[in-house]
Amino acid sequence: VNSNAGDAGAEFIVVANRLPVDLERLPDGTERWKHSPGGLVSALEPFLRSHSGAWVGWPGVADAVAEEFEDEGLRLYPVTLSADEVRDYYEGFSNATLWPLYHDVVAPPVFDRAWWESYVRVNRRFADACAKIAAEGATIWVQDYQLQLVPAMLREQRPDLRIGFFLHIPFPPTELFMQLPWRTEIVRGLLGADLIGFHRPGGAQNFLWLARRLVGLEPSRGAVGVRTRPGVVQVGDRTVRVGAFPISIDSAGLDAMARSKEVQQRAKEIRSELGNPRKVLLGVDRLDYTKGIDLRLRALHELLEDGRVNPDDVVMVQLATPSRERVEHYRQMRGDIEQVVSRINGEFARVGHPVVHYLHQSVDRKELVAFMSAADVMVVTPVRDGMNLVCKEYVACRYDLGGALVLSEFAGAAAELTSSFLVNPHDLDGVKNALHAALTVDPAEGRRRMRALRRQVLTHDVDRWARSFLEALGTQHLN
Ligand code: ADP
Ligand code: G6P
Repeated sequence: VNSNAGDAGAEFIVVANRLPVDLERLPDGTERWKHSPGGLVSALEPFLRSHSGAWVGWPGVADAVAEEFEDEGLRLYPVTLSADEVRDYYEGFSNATLWPLYHDVVAPPVFDRAWWESYVRVNRRFADACAKIAAEGATIWVQDYQLQLVPAMLREQRPDLRIGFFLHIPFPPTELFMQLPWRTEIVRGLLGADLIGFHRPGGAQNFLWLARRLVGLEPSRGAVGVRTRPGVVQVGDRTVRVGAFPISIDSAGLDAMARSKEVQQRAKEIRSELGNPRKVLLGVDRLDYTKGIDLRLRALHELLEDGRVNPDDVVMVQLATPSRERVEHYRQMRGDIEQVVSRINGEFARVGHPVVHYLHQSVDRKELVAFMSAADVMVVTPVRDGMNLVCKEYVACRYDLGGALVLSEFAGAAAELTSSFLVNPHDLDGVKNALHAALTVDPAEGRRRMRALRRQVLTHDVDRWARSFLEALGTQHLN
């Protein structure tokens, strides 16, 4: 990808709510950049860095004014958000309206007109920033639910651009989407793109139905395929394609990191720091109410109560990155999780030997790979997740064919990772049985499953995802 042609402007631009790095303000007043949280950045960053792209996004703190800068081959263009906009556009409309609505209303979405107005204003700012730096005929790849109005706003100013949009979270059933007071504006906003991508064909199909119902268009009727056969809808003289592109990870990179002596050494050390238990369970998530962290802890608690899991044998580690901490549902969920953790330890730990090790922290990449290498069972139980990268990361780390994956049917990844121990996270007995089965799986059967999982994850990496999307978009700027 040729991102920057000097004064002529950037030829390939990713625009996302967040930059791949966050500005951190330390208590002594100094500032530094650190890696941003979440799957969008995990997935896109390695691809963009290896193709030297440009990235437009928010530096992660209110009122931060920063000049564009170069970061290891990436050109970064910070967009400023005021404290009110962080509250209304980011915490409000993006994360207390759209996030719960698109995740099957597992929490009730809040519909607030002032938040919507802020969303419109901020989307315009992102569109303006792209319009300003884009070269003639450039490709702009708009990311995720925070920026659904950007495609149309950008098209209006710059009809010369090729515009792609990808949604990283689930696109909801039409009945749920229809609750949104601004449903038509959102659909029209997305239709400004040349290609609209979802993880699953179902999301694409739902969108096509809404384009007919809300905008009166005539979409194609055939079934949308994975990476192939996108739906097509004619918007005036433009053809908009709507397809399914399941995202993935830098599988080879993680596989190589897991094989390194340093990581293997650290994995051993972690097990020994945990007291060399017979089995280690691991959870790794942003602390989000969609991730089902509470459910997996409840399942473990009951297994301990039932005597099916022995607290002398089994240790669970839960790493939870702090996330959206000022949004009410996140606060509640954190309280719930911390209560279950302390209940389990209160009842089943011995001094110096907790059953659950809970870290409300983010760990660096190598450390994460060491944890995944050390874990016998990876537990991924979201009640709804667009894709979920954690489960793919675990598979990529297990070059030894060790370990077992317990995975929710409600993660997009379940369609690909069919050799995992699939569970319905709403069925507590089912989760308990799957955890028990994964803890006691016969080693040959475990290897058979892991081999099948690895075949999928290693051949379907993030590079393939990005290429399939950009080829369908017909960009001229991919090399
Ligand atoms: P989401 O995008 O909703 O956060 P994903 O599973 O798609 O969920 O992506 C999460 C990303 O964040 C993964 O790359 C995962 O490794 C990383 N991550 C999650 N929790 C932690 C943590 N505690 N420390 C370090 N990385 C984490
Ligand atoms: C998910 C979303 C991303 C978001 C990330 C982290 O992956 O799809 O758009 O960046 O979570 O959330 P945050 O609100 O901290 O950006």
